[in-house]
Amino acid sequence: MKKGFIFLLLLNAFQLNAQRAIESFNNGWQFYLGADTTTTAGDKKNNWQSINLPHDWSIELPFSEKAPATNQGGSLPGGIGWYKKSFIVAAKLSQKLMYIQLDGVYRNSEVWINGHYLGKRPNGYISFEYQLNDYLKFGKEQNIIIVKVDNAQQPNSRWYSGSGIYRNTWLVSTDRISIKHWGSFVITPTVTKKSATVLLHTSLLSQARKENSVKIVSVITNDNGVVVATNSQSIVIKNSDTAIEQKLTIPFPKLWSMDHPNLYKLTTTIFKGQQAIDNYSTSLGIRTFYFDAAQGFFLNGLPMKIKGVCMHQDLGALGVAINTSAIARQLTILKEMGCNAIRTAHNPPSTEFLNLCDQMGFLVMDEAFDMWAKKKNKFDYSADFNKWHRQDLADQILRDRNHPSVFIWSIGNEIREQFDSTGIAITKELVAIVKSIDTTRPITAGLSESNPEKNFMYKSGALDLVGLNYHTEVYKDFQTIYPNQKFIAAETMSALASRGHYDMPSDSIMYWPQKSPMKYVEGGNKDFTVSAYDQVAAYWGSTHEATWKMIKKYVFLSGLFVWTGFDYLGEPTPYPYPARSSYFGIVDLAGFPKDVYYMYQSEWTNKPVLHLFPHWNWSRGKLVDVWAYYNQADEVELFLNGYSLGIKKKALEDLHVMWRVKYEPGTLRAVSRKNGKIVLESQVVTAGIPARIELVSDKKIIHPNTNELCFITVKILDKNGNIVPDASNSIHFSVNNNTEIKGVDNGSQTSLQPFKSTDCKAYNGLCLVILKAKKLQKNLELTAESIGLKSNTISIKIQ
Ligand code: GAL
Repeated sequence: MKKGFIFLLLLNAFQLNAQRAIESFNNGWQFYLGADTTTTAGDKKNNWQSINLPHDWSIELPFSEKAPATNQGGSLPGGIGWYKKSFIVAAKLSQKLMYIQLDGVYRNSEVWINGHYLGKRPNGYISFEYQLNDYLKFGKEQNIIIVKVDNAQQPNSRWYSGSGIYRNTWLVSTDRISIKHWGSFVITPTVTKKSATVLLHTSLLSQARKENSVKIVSVITNDNGVVVATNSQSIVIKNSDTAIEQKLTIPFPKLWSMDHPNLYKLTTTIFKGQQAIDNYSTSLGIRTFYFDAAQGFFLNGLPMKIKGVCMHQDLGALGVAINTSAIARQLTILKEMGCNAIRTAHNPPSTEFLNLCDQMGFLVMDEAFDMWAKKKNKFDYSADFNKWHRQDLADQILRDRNHPSVFIWSIGNEIREQFDSTGIAITKELVAIVKSIDTTRPITAGLSESNPEKNFMYKSGALDLVGLNYHTEVYKDFQTIYPNQKFIAAETMSALASRGHYDMPSDSIMYWPQKSPMKYVEGGNKDFTVSAYDQVAAYWGSTHEATWKMIKKYVFLSGLFVWTGFDYLGEPTPYPYPARSSYFGIVDLAGFPKDVYYMYQSEWTNKPVLHLFPHWNWSRGKLVDVWAYYNQADEVELFLNGYSLGIKKKALEDLHVMWRVKYEPGTLRAVSRKNGKIVLESQVVTAGIPARIELVSDKKIIHPNTNELCFITVKILDKNGNIVPDASNSIHFSVNNNTEIKGVDNGSQTSLQPFKSTDCKAYNGLCLVILKAKKLQKNLELTAESIGLKSNTISIKIQ
């Protein structure tokens, strides 16, 4: 093939570029919440509300002790919801294949087009599509699509699931000869400094009436858009499915890693004669990795600890309605902590999440199920498992297999079948499904039975990697207990904390709840708080420091996933209602770091850290434990009102230093030094009464993209500008007519204030407002007011 000809073809491809049209199908829906199931596919007349997707109806409803999901599911209602959208499809598209794609619907979705039933998907986390052609009207006539979502039977989840079409939807048109949905599979079997071999497997579909000769041209471009590799092949395609393999070579590849997440773009175009008729793009990251039983994990040939966190998918006050800028904010906060991996507990994530992990440099343990056929909750997916698991698992692997971030497949979390012999066959079956699609990544599961003799999933011999949940007692002897096995701590800690709350003495470790069977904690705090010194964990877990010390110490322990990065809705161990969100996060539900965040930052980054806590507002004479997390220094000296309280150094494995100080108001100041030279200084000052409101935006400008959100931190300050650490003032928010308040939150696990509101009470001095532009016209503007406080206004430009 002559170079010039390829170039011509490519030019053609890029100029025409509209062979495959992928349009957002999110706007202009009608929504009706009601258990009325009498009219299934028909139109309903009453109470339709105009909405845009993604949409989570539960998050906008009031918390209730009576919610059938219980506080384990976030104390919010579920129900049955109906979505309806009318749309026209241009007559010129009548020769195309048309699809609706739904990235995620919780749960039991059923879809009708123009009164014709398209199908049902029980799984609330899976992406799927329906071909519409048989029932579609082209031209001026309206088409009506109806989606029924049934999340009425509860409890069906161990965490807040949300309800509705909560991920993106797309309307896709392709030629009758096209690349299948998720039909492009790219791997890089050989990578050296000089070149990377790229093998591309493309699944093609033809619904054309006759045989056709087509040319398949695949092109890889680098991040500057420069073509670095091409391959072109001609085939005859019949009226059926077929596949082709292409091999491309990238010279001097730039590798993908956490610090340098270099990505290439691979575009495959189908040509019929000179005409480009379909194109499909995927991003490509070139990296090599492996687990070693003795030496842990290696990325691109270098040893590396996996410093991961588990994350549920909710976005706090936004519920599960996906928003890329909200996910990016979570990932940015985690990245700054030094986190390099995420476990998507316990379900397939959104594609937007994986794209961000590819782009920002996170490894992902991509998980399929929280239960198989044995249930954890009365109405959960176990009832659908036998019928649906093959398709659900296959679809997850097909969808996610090109993401360089994805490095482990997990076939389940704490699956009940691990405890009896039924676990053997199912483990083997699921592993075989995954391997039939992708053999480039190890397969694991979050195992809670740590005795290899008693764990039937392990005994199946099918898992590539032993993923242990908790059971730190086996860590040090892992190599003896599991000879020649590779290890990952799939889930760890379950330590608990409320941001900004401190109980003394800080050096007594508590387990809340204390023992099995799990009961709500007795002897916990009356106000349902948990101390933010790293001193409390659930009985099956351990403190952050104790766990990380072990993982750090043994080289064969490849790394860990902390339960959890952020607090999430539901599972408020150790308390009953009104506690309704978790205490497990390193970061609270609103996105404000708890103190232990800085322990990780001091251990997991090269950034100099000196974090001094707690606040300095106590009653005179009280003995207060003062902690400092620090790194890159030999010692820290503490001063109270100018007087030295002594120098402390971390001994051996220590991860913090502590002073027990008799409280007097004033300024507590810490100075870290290396070789006698000051590295950092940090201070906390006794705050006076609340005097004013400060507003800090996470961004100064909003890009011309109406989905971008702006996160405003609201701080209650005294007259000297110190945060008032126990301030709980009620703040009222008002906005200009171009600004919508998408949510408010304060990070308290027991707050029953609605998330969708113009008011929010501060919790320990802080709260959060999430803003969105209605139109891309003028600035966003927010004013925050509270009785007795100086108000404040902030404006964010749209550019
Ligand atoms: C684990 C479980 C997680 C979460 C956690 C809370 O056993 O895998 O989903 O429930 O406990 O500590």
